[in-house]
Amino acid sequence: MVVLAMLSVLGLLSVAAVLGLLLLLLGRRRRGPKAASGPPGPTPWPVLGSLHLLGSHDNPFQAFTALSAQYGDIFSITLGSAPCVVVNTFELIKEVLVTKGSHFGGRPDFIRFHMLFGGDRNNSLALCDWSDLQKTRRAISRAYCSPRFASAHFYNLDTVGSCEVAAFADVLRRRAAPGQPLDVKPLLNVACFNLFTQYMCSKRFAYDDPDCLSVVRTFDEIFWEINQGYAVDFMPWLLPAYAGHMRKLSSWAQYIRGFIMANIVTEHENTLEMYGDPRDFTDALLMHLKEDSSMEWQHIIFELEDFLGGHSAVSNLVMLTLIAVVRNPRVGERIQREVDAATACGSRHVTLFDRASMPYTEAAILETLRSASSPIVPHVATVDSTIGGYEVKKGTVVFINNYQLNTGESYWSKPAEFMPERFLSADGHVSKPKYFIPFSTGKRTCIGQRLVQGFSFLLVASILQSYDVSVPEGTVIHTPTACVAVPPDTYSLVFTPRKNRESSGL
Ligand code: HEM
Repeated sequence: MVVLAMLSVLGLLSVAAVLGLLLLLLGRRRRGPKAASGPPGPTPWPVLGSLHLLGSHDNPFQAFTALSAQYGDIFSITLGSAPCVVVNTFELIKEVLVTKGSHFGGRPDFIRFHMLFGGDRNNSLALCDWSDLQKTRRAISRAYCSPRFASAHFYNLDTVGSCEVAAFADVLRRRAAPGQPLDVKPLLNVACFNLFTQYMCSKRFAYDDPDCLSVVRTFDEIFWEINQGYAVDFMPWLLPAYAGHMRKLSSWAQYIRGFIMANIVTEHENTLEMYGDPRDFTDALLMHLKEDSSMEWQHIIFELEDFLGGHSAVSNLVMLTLIAVVRNPRVGERIQREVDAATACGSRHVTLFDRASMPYTEAAILETLRSASSPIVPHVATVDSTIGGYEVKKGTVVFINNYQLNTGESYWSKPAEFMPERFLSADGHVSKPKYFIPFSTGKRTCIGQRLVQGFSFLLVASILQSYDVSVPEGTVIHTPTACVAVPPDTYSLVFTPRKNRESSGL
């Protein structure tokens, strides 16, 4: 599962505000000297550290940018009692993620992360510390999650993608009444789940299957949850106040595990042919388990769960792209012109091979990623090291301020505007500046990015091929900043069949 875990100001503030006020009454805020060779930064308060400084902004990254104007491109900050460093420029970010990637391969030890992965966050691909096991797990998934263009896996991906967008188009045709809002997110969740389960487990589910609807809803809840932050992440002594919340996380995770075992793994195990080619990713994992004595059963189950959970990231991204189209109708029109040209005026469904001739559509998805600015999971120093010449001690949490990379005026012209064109070169090809790293970079870079790009392209292109998308009149759209998720219950959209498409049968 993709994990984009970050701090949400809202979560932190309720507790931070109360404690902050108390401390304000008890003592004065000082800007004191830091350890001789560590980065400069605000002097922490007792208990809270500097959590209170994150409060006056929409998201913690805006606070980081404001603090960097005061303390420099790299600064230290204590959150609760956790020593942290924030890096704010591309050069420093590259130093952390690439040049010194092996020094900063750990992850923060948030209790929530343990709760979601059977009591041990090292079961999770995204939340574990770097290890040989992680190297193996990444290696097993590479062929499936990053299929090379025109390889057998790529063709399989295309076949799965084409079948599912056809099935999704059929569901939309039946459920989207002209002029009526449709709660489309649950359907998108099922479409994306099917893309993943069909590709990775050779299994798909009906759009009205109550068990499937329930499990994708749970995945979506977890995806939203993991994008939030809580005071308890940095002040673990608050745990008793969060006992109910932690129980909920743990029960969600158990429910999903049970579903995957019952509906996917058991069936695969019973029909596994050890000496043939793996039928899919699930087979490849099970075969690896039998051949590699260092792999344990739970590693396989959690890896599969992690990857299947990636479907929520794709459906949230598609939802955000559709919302961007609603806000910027000219973007939708241009995607429609492109898809019409690629599919002979809509006479066939979109395929992955159309991506090459639809750069604007890809650019619109990239622009959605830029403006959503999904946070990079914090890294942790696993050895004493340096960044930008400053000493950074083992155990320090390193925040990558990619919000600044995605929205800073020194990187983009008119960053607040939604302009897919910024990702097109003069000759109309997709072109990404090197500092645009929505999937991060270095040894912990996102494993699912090719799947994200392929599947989100198919869904966005095929929806706009057949429909104009809007919201009911009077709807005011608000999407969170520095977050690639929308809440599980979100806007309903209106799908109006395009006039010249009504007879195409798609
Ligand atoms: C909107 C879609 C997505 C975005 C923006 C995204 C972004 C990211 C980012 C920023 C990281 C952290 C990298 C780092 O710490 O340096 C990450 C890690 C990861 N992502 Fe994604 N991701 C997305 C979807 C997916 C999907 C669909 C999958 C699975 C199929 C996936 C699998 C992973 C895994 C396994 C990791 C952990 C890698 C590691 O720590 O070694 N992601 N992703």
